[in-house]
Amino acid sequence: MTLQFSLGNTAATTVDTPCIVVGVYEQGALSSAAEAVDLASDGLIRQQIESGDITGKAGSSSVLFAPPGISAKRVLVVGLGVQKSFDGARFQKVNHEAARALGRLPLSTAVSYLSEVDVPGRDAAWRVRVAALASDFAAYRYTATFKPRDKPKPAELATLTFAAGDEAQAALEQAIAIAEGVRFARELANLPPNICNPAYIAAQAQAFADQHDKVSCKVLDETQMSELGFGSLLAVARGSANKPRLIALEYKGGNDGDKPYAFVGKGVTFDSGGLSLKPGPGMEDMKFDMGGAAGVMGAFVAAVKMGLKLNLVCVVPSVENMPGGDSYRPSDVLTSLSGLTIEVLNTDAEGRLILCDALTWTAKTFQPHTLIDAATLTGACVIALGKHASGLMSKHDDLAAELLAAGEETLDRAWRLPLWDDYQVQLESGFADVANIGGKTAGAITAGCFLSRFTDGQRWAHLDIAGTAWEDGRKGLATGRPVALLAQWLLSRSEK
Ligand code: BES
Ligand code: MN
Ligand code: ZN
Repeated sequence: MTLQFSLGNTAATTVDTPCIVVGVYEQGALSSAAEAVDLASDGLIRQQIESGDITGKAGSSSVLFAPPGISAKRVLVVGLGVQKSFDGARFQKVNHEAARALGRLPLSTAVSYLSEVDVPGRDAAWRVRVAALASDFAAYRYTATFKPRDKPKPAELATLTFAAGDEAQAALEQAIAIAEGVRFARELANLPPNICNPAYIAAQAQAFADQHDKVSCKVLDETQMSELGFGSLLAVARGSANKPRLIALEYKGGNDGDKPYAFVGKGVTFDSGGLSLKPGPGMEDMKFDMGGAAGVMGAFVAAVKMGLKLNLVCVVPSVENMPGGDSYRPSDVLTSLSGLTIEVLNTDAEGRLILCDALTWTAKTFQPHTLIDAATLTGACVIALGKHASGLMSKHDDLAAELLAAGEETLDRAWRLPLWDDYQVQLESGFADVANIGGKTAGAITAGCFLSRFTDGQRWAHLDIAGTAWEDGRKGLATGRPVALLAQWLLSRSEK
């Protein structure tokens, strides 16, 4: 069951609900809804601030039960942190924590006044969009591969109303569509690789197309790709019993003649490294190596759900990278779809080898207006930027600026790395047109440089999401990034 959202404008003191959510700052300042509740309840909130029960620390929360003087049965008081440094990121965090706290309470509906909290430089529409997305993110549960429980389920948060006027209605609808895309991406990426293999991703894409007007899906199998000359992609796939697919989703929301926007997402359903085998510890994370595929498909879902008036294609090259008797080897020379030959120096640099053929095919087949790929491409990108920013590489300053702005707007942020020709020499090979690795330094950039050799003439950008696609740790889940960034970028393109 997914969380449903709505807007309301009843005052915090008179709204009839099992729970309202209000914010207080650290050092005692109250948000306006908290102030109103405090006044109506004879100082209930201020008393608890004085006693130290409520600190206002960012993300902390406490529940006031059966408060006098107001209609709601509970007040969830959420800490907003220090007021003078309150910003968009904090706003996102407190909405996330509020939804988590609501999820622990025995109730199925609530009304949040956090959407009224002032964020410097942001309007009500922005606040509603971010509040809804943060709440939906917090409400997501992965349940696909647990034994079904027969005990009765406790009440679960099913509807959440944000205090806001009608001017935020369009933003709420966008948020609902984007949240659906984020959920789609998270669910696909969280599935284990024995379920989520290339054929499974293709089936999901096909099922989505079957359910939506204006959406069609085409899937190429190994034989078809072989006839077309996908020599690089197919080499990576050879070690695995799970056969590769090339998946293309098409959405015709725009005019017939309009050039489509194109996304390409890395869909390695498990990356063992192949013969250049990865170390055991941490290898389990490599089920998330289809995070780029999940991300572009999620953004595609969001675009369709928003009904954007544009044409969009989403291409997913999907393989499993395994060692085997027929695996490709270090020192193999491959002929890519573009005709360029590639010397394999490491079979673990497989993402670029499937992307190069997919990029060539997408450019030729669709002649897109803009081409963007997303990929969990390099550990080096995680070293450079950590888990907060995706790496953005593009030779097109205007496109880079658009994508950075979409990231800021949604707090699904990216940071730009250079693609200067200075780095290209690192990819020189004595045996082929290009080598598939660029040596010790600047690993994220040399991976981008490799891809750049296959996107000549395209308005192209590359997002390395190796650090941002999932959360660390044994229970770390897929984040659904960069769905929000890409969906927001499409949204602003469609408004032009
Ligand atoms: N899928 C990995 C990149 C990766 C590593 C993503 C860790 C997230 C966390 C990719 O296929 C890979 O193995 N890249 C190599 C490239 C190297 C051999 C040049 C890497 O980053 O080590
Ligand atoms: Mn790899
Ligand atoms: Zn990989």
